[in-house]
Amino acid sequence: MKNRIITIDGPAGSGKTTVSKALAQRLGCIYVDTGALYRGVAFELQRQKIDYKEDKALEKFLKSLDLTFAIDGDHDNGQFLLLSSGRDITPYIRTPEISMLASLSSARPLIRSALLNVQRNIADEQDAVFEGRDMGTVVFPGASFKFFLFADITIRAKRRFDEMPEEEKNFTQVQKEMEIRDYNDSNRVAAPLKPAEDAIHINSSDLTIGQVIEKMLEHIKKAKNI
Ligand code: DC
Repeated sequence: MKNRIITIDGPAGSGKTTVSKALAQRLGCIYVDTGALYRGVAFELQRQKIDYKEDKALEKFLKSLDLTFAIDGDHDNGQFLLLSSGRDITPYIRTPEISMLASLSSARPLIRSALLNVQRNIADEQDAVFEGRDMGTVVFPGASFKFFLFADITIRAKRRFDEMPEEEKNFTQVQKEMEIRDYNDSNRVAAPLKPAEDAIHINSSDLTIGQVIEKMLEHIKKAKNI
Protein backbone atom coordinates (compact mmCIF):
# COMPACT_ATOMS: atom_id res chain seq x y z
CA MET A 1 0.00 0.00 0.00
CA LYS A 2 1.67 3.22 -1.15
CA ASN A 3 -0.12 5.68 1.14
CA ARG A 4 -0.33 5.78 4.93
CA ILE A 5 -3.76 4.46 5.86
CA ILE A 6 -5.03 4.42 9.44
CA THR A 7 -8.21 2.50 10.21
CA ILE A 8 -10.61 3.09 13.09
CA ASP A 9 -13.36 0.51 13.50
CA GLY A 10 -15.96 0.21 16.22
CA PRO A 11 -19.66 0.29 17.07
CA ALA A 12 -21.97 3.32 16.85
CA GLY A 13 -21.32 5.93 19.52
CA SER A 14 -17.79 4.76 20.32
CA GLY A 15 -16.44 8.18 19.31
CA LYS A 16 -15.06 7.08 15.92
CA THR A 17 -16.18 10.11 13.92
CA THR A 18 -14.92 12.81 16.28
CA VAL A 19 -11.67 10.95 16.90
CA SER A 20 -11.05 10.17 13.22
CA LYS A 21 -11.60 13.78 12.18
CA ALA A 22 -9.29 15.14 14.86
CA LEU A 23 -6.61 12.50 14.27
CA ALA A 24 -6.61 13.23 10.54
CA GLN A 25 -6.22 16.92 11.29
CA ARG A 26 -3.26 16.23 13.61
CA LEU A 27 -1.62 14.04 10.97
CA GLY A 28 -2.41 16.42 8.09
CA CYS A 29 -4.35 13.90 6.04
CA ILE A 30 -7.97 13.42 5.01
CA TYR A 31 -10.63 11.57 6.96
CA VAL A 32 -13.19 9.25 5.39
CA ASP A 33 -16.48 8.35 7.08
CA THR A 34 -17.39 5.07 5.36
CA GLY A 35 -20.64 4.83 7.35
CA ALA A 36 -21.80 7.83 5.31
CA LEU A 37 -21.45 5.73 2.13
CA TYR A 38 -23.67 2.97 3.57
CA ARG A 39 -26.10 5.67 4.68
CA GLY A 40 -26.01 7.14 1.17
CA VAL A 41 -26.90 3.73 -0.26
CA ALA A 42 -29.77 3.42 2.23
CA PHE A 43 -31.05 6.89 1.37
CA GLU A 44 -31.05 6.12 -2.36
CA LEU A 45 -32.68 2.70 -1.80
CA GLN A 46 -35.47 4.43 0.06
CA ARG A 47 -35.79 7.31 -2.40
CA GLN A 48 -35.87 5.02 -5.44
CA LYS A 49 -38.08 2.47 -3.62
CA ILE A 50 -35.66 -0.42 -4.23
CA ASP A 51 -35.91 -3.60 -2.17
CA TYR A 52 -32.32 -4.37 -1.10
CA LYS A 53 -33.22 -8.07 -0.75
CA GLU A 54 -33.90 -8.43 -4.50
CA ASP A 55 -30.69 -9.24 -6.36
CA LYS A 56 -31.71 -8.10 -9.86
CA ALA A 57 -33.09 -4.73 -8.77
CA LEU A 58 -30.13 -4.21 -6.44
CA GLU A 59 -27.56 -4.95 -9.16
CA LYS A 60 -29.17 -2.44 -11.51
CA PHE A 61 -29.40 0.12 -8.73
CA LEU A 62 -25.73 -0.28 -7.81
CA LYS A 63 -24.60 0.15 -11.42
CA SER A 64 -26.19 3.59 -11.57
CA LEU A 65 -25.11 4.62 -8.05
CA ASP A 66 -22.59 7.47 -7.95
CA LEU A 67 -21.54 8.45 -4.43
CA THR A 68 -18.68 10.90 -3.87
CA PHE A 69 -17.37 13.06 -1.06
CA ALA A 70 -16.82 16.80 -1.27
CA ILE A 71 -15.61 19.41 1.18
CA ASP A 72 -17.67 22.52 1.74
CA GLY A 73 -15.18 25.18 2.84
CA ASP A 74 -11.45 24.91 3.40
CA HIS A 75 -9.67 21.58 3.88
CA ASP A 76 -9.09 21.86 7.66
CA ASN A 77 -12.36 23.33 8.86
CA GLY A 78 -14.73 22.45 6.03
CA GLN A 79 -17.85 20.32 6.34
CA PHE A 80 -17.79 16.92 4.66
CA LEU A 81 -20.58 16.47 2.16
CA LEU A 82 -21.88 13.27 0.64
CA LEU A 83 -22.97 13.70 -2.96
CA SER A 84 -25.20 11.32 -4.90
CA SER A 85 -24.85 11.93 -8.65
CA GLY A 86 -23.59 15.39 -7.74
CA ARG A 87 -26.49 16.27 -5.42
CA ASP A 88 -25.79 16.99 -1.74
CA ILE A 89 -27.65 14.37 0.34
CA THR A 90 -25.80 15.03 3.64
CA PRO A 91 -28.85 16.51 5.44
CA TYR A 92 -30.91 13.34 4.89
CA ILE A 93 -28.60 10.50 5.93
CA ARG A 94 -28.57 10.80 9.74
CA THR A 95 -32.18 10.04 10.59
CA PRO A 96 -32.99 6.98 12.80
CA GLU A 97 -34.80 5.42 9.81
CA ILE A 98 -31.76 5.69 7.53
CA SER A 99 -29.51 4.45 10.36
CA MET A 100 -31.55 1.26 10.61
CA LEU A 101 -31.86 0.77 6.83
CA ALA A 102 -28.08 1.29 6.46
CA SER A 103 -27.41 -1.32 9.14
CA LEU A 104 -29.76 -3.85 7.48
CA SER A 105 -28.83 -3.26 3.84
CA SER A 106 -25.08 -3.18 4.56
CA ALA A 107 -25.28 -6.92 5.24
CA ARG A 108 -25.74 -7.49 1.48
CA PRO A 109 -22.43 -8.57 -0.14
CA LEU A 110 -23.46 -6.87 -3.42
CA ILE A 111 -23.58 -3.53 -1.64
CA ARG A 112 -20.34 -4.16 0.23
CA SER A 113 -18.39 -5.04 -2.90
CA ALA A 114 -19.73 -1.97 -4.76
CA LEU A 115 -18.44 0.26 -1.95
CA LEU A 116 -15.12 -1.58 -1.63
CA ASN A 117 -13.80 0.05 -4.81
CA VAL A 118 -15.05 3.51 -3.86
CA GLN A 119 -13.08 3.24 -0.59
CA ARG A 120 -9.90 1.77 -2.10
CA ASN A 121 -9.86 4.37 -4.87
CA ILE A 122 -9.80 7.14 -2.26
CA ALA A 123 -6.90 5.41 -0.47
CA ASP A 124 -4.94 5.15 -3.72
CA GLU A 125 -4.94 8.93 -4.02
CA GLN A 126 -3.74 10.07 -0.57
CA ASP A 127 -2.94 9.32 3.09
CA ALA A 128 -6.16 8.97 5.08
CA VAL A 129 -7.88 7.97 8.30
CA PHE A 130 -10.79 5.64 7.46
CA GLU A 131 -13.52 4.96 10.00
CA GLY A 132 -16.09 2.18 9.76
CA ARG A 133 -16.79 -1.42 10.75
CA ASP A 134 -14.55 -3.53 8.47
CA MET A 135 -11.72 -1.13 7.62
CA GLY A 136 -8.96 -3.11 9.33
CA THR A 137 -10.36 -6.56 8.57
CA VAL A 138 -11.55 -6.40 4.94
CA VAL A 139 -11.05 -3.10 3.15
CA PHE A 140 -7.48 -2.28 4.27
CA PRO A 141 -5.90 -5.41 5.77
CA GLY A 142 -2.47 -3.88 5.06
CA ALA A 143 -3.19 -0.55 6.84
CA SER A 144 -0.28 1.13 8.66
CA PHE A 145 -2.23 1.37 11.94
CA LYS A 146 -5.48 -0.23 12.99
CA PHE A 147 -7.52 0.88 15.97
CA PHE A 148 -10.65 -0.67 17.44
CA LEU A 149 -12.61 1.83 19.48
CA PHE A 150 -15.41 0.75 21.81
CA ALA A 151 -17.33 1.88 24.92
CA ASP A 152 -20.07 0.61 27.22
CA ILE A 153 -23.53 0.60 25.61
CA THR A 154 -25.06 3.04 28.11
CA ILE A 155 -22.26 5.53 27.50
CA ARG A 156 -22.57 5.18 23.72
CA ALA A 157 -26.35 5.61 23.87
CA LYS A 158 -25.93 8.67 26.12
CA ARG A 159 -23.57 10.26 23.57
CA ARG A 160 -26.13 9.80 20.76
CA PHE A 161 -28.94 10.99 23.04
CA ASP A 162 -27.03 14.21 23.82
CA GLU A 163 -26.59 14.93 20.09
CA MET A 164 -30.33 14.62 19.35
CA PRO A 165 -32.73 17.53 18.96
CA GLU A 166 -34.81 18.14 22.11
CA GLU A 167 -38.11 17.01 20.55
CA GLU A 168 -36.70 13.63 19.44
CA LYS A 169 -34.99 12.69 22.71
CA ASN A 170 -35.91 9.26 24.10
CA PHE A 171 -33.07 7.47 25.87
CA THR A 172 -34.68 4.00 26.02
CA GLN A 173 -35.42 4.14 22.29
CA VAL A 174 -31.89 5.30 21.42
CA GLN A 175 -30.30 2.50 23.45
CA LYS A 176 -32.67 -0.14 22.06
CA GLU A 177 -31.99 0.87 18.44
CA MET A 178 -28.27 0.93 19.11
CA GLU A 179 -28.40 -2.61 20.51
CA ILE A 180 -30.26 -3.83 17.42
CA ARG A 181 -27.72 -2.17 15.12
CA ASP A 182 -24.81 -3.57 17.15
CA TYR A 183 -26.34 -7.02 16.79
CA ASN A 184 -26.94 -6.67 13.01
CA ASP A 185 -23.48 -5.21 12.37
CA SER A 186 -21.64 -7.83 14.44
CA ASN A 187 -23.57 -10.92 13.36
CA ARG A 188 -23.84 -10.55 9.60
CA VAL A 189 -21.87 -13.03 7.49
CA ALA A 190 -20.28 -10.44 5.17
CA ALA A 191 -17.58 -8.34 6.83
CA PRO A 192 -19.06 -8.22 10.35
CA LEU A 193 -18.00 -5.60 12.86
CA LYS A 194 -15.00 -7.07 14.67
CA PRO A 195 -11.47 -6.02 15.53
CA ALA A 196 -8.69 -7.02 13.15
CA GLU A 197 -6.24 -9.43 14.77
CA ASP A 198 -3.55 -6.75 14.75
CA ALA A 199 -5.81 -3.89 15.89
CA ILE A 200 -5.01 -1.79 18.95
CA HIS A 201 -8.07 -1.82 21.24
CA ILE A 202 -9.12 1.38 23.00
CA ASN A 203 -12.01 1.56 25.46
CA SER A 204 -13.29 5.14 25.31
CA SER A 205 -15.86 4.76 28.14
CA ASP A 206 -13.86 6.81 30.65
CA LEU A 207 -11.67 8.79 28.25
CA THR A 208 -12.10 12.22 26.71
CA ILE A 209 -11.75 12.59 22.96
CA GLY A 210 -8.39 14.29 23.57
CA GLN A 211 -7.16 11.33 25.63
CA VAL A 212 -8.18 8.83 22.93
CA ILE A 213 -6.30 10.83 20.30
CA GLU A 214 -3.19 11.08 22.50
CA LYS A 215 -3.24 7.30 22.95
CA MET A 216 -3.43 6.79 19.20
CA LEU A 217 -0.64 9.29 18.52
CA GLU A 218 1.55 7.54 21.13
CA HIS A 219 1.20 4.27 19.21
CA ILE A 220 1.96 5.97 15.91
CA LYS A 221 5.01 7.83 17.28
CA LYS A 222 6.31 4.70 19.04
CA ALA A 223 6.22 2.73 15.79
CA LYS A 224 8.07 5.52 13.97
CA ASN A 225 10.93 5.34 16.50
CA ILE A 226 11.45 1.60 16.14
O1 DC B 1 -20.85 4.49 11.23
P1 DC B 1 -22.37 4.67 10.97
O2 DC B 1 -23.20 4.46 12.20
O3 DC B 1 -22.66 5.95 10.28
O4 DC B 1 -22.75 3.48 9.94
C1 DC B 1 -24.07 3.24 9.49
C2 DC B 1 -24.23 1.77 9.16
O5 DC B 1 -23.44 1.43 8.02
C3 DC B 1 -23.80 0.81 10.26
O6 DC B 1 -24.89 0.41 11.06
C4 DC B 1 -23.24 -0.37 9.52
C5 DC B 1 -22.87 0.14 8.17
N1 DC B 1 -21.42 0.23 7.96
C6 DC B 1 -20.80 -0.90 7.51
O7 DC B 1 -21.43 -1.94 7.37
N2 DC B 1 -19.47 -0.87 7.21
C7 DC B 1 -18.76 0.25 7.38
N3 DC B 1 -17.48 0.26 7.06
C8 DC B 1 -19.39 1.42 7.87
C9 DC B 1 -20.73 1.37 8.17
